[in-house]
Amino acid sequence: MDPTVPLLEVQNLKQYFTVEKGQTFKAVDSISFSIQPGETLGLVGESGSGKTTTGRSILQLNTPTDGDILYKGMAVNRLSRKN
Ligand SMILES: Nc1ncnc2c1ncn2[C@@H]1O[C@H](COP(=O)(O)OP(=O)(O)OP(=O)(O)O)[C@@H](O)[C@H]1O
Ligand SMILES: [Mg+2]
Repeated sequence: MDPTVPLLEVQNLKQYFTVEKGQTFKAVDSISFSIQPGETLGLVGESGSGKTTTGRSILQLNTPTDGDILYKGMAVNRLSRKN
């Protein structure tokens, strides 16, 4: 494993949801962090602060509104579904 490439990089991730009356709810609003190989990161925050949403967006269970998710340097949210 290349120790110079972060295992995971989250860059300016935004996850907005359209809620009732077309209003935008900003569940995650531009968060950035990186995790090095072998490193453990804990995400702490009050209920509803967006921890689970962040994980779901990283896993592409939500389509992020904006930002980049790089796994081993590869921008997973910009990959073609055909690949
Ligand atoms: N699909 C969705 N549509 C609209 N709002 C959503 C959606 N998913 C999450 N939310 C809202 O985003 C906010 C963040 O929720 P999230 O579950 O990420 O919080 P959390 O930090 O994991 O909270 P907890 O500590 O209770 O697990 C909440 O207000 C939630 O209602
Ligand atoms: Mg949660």
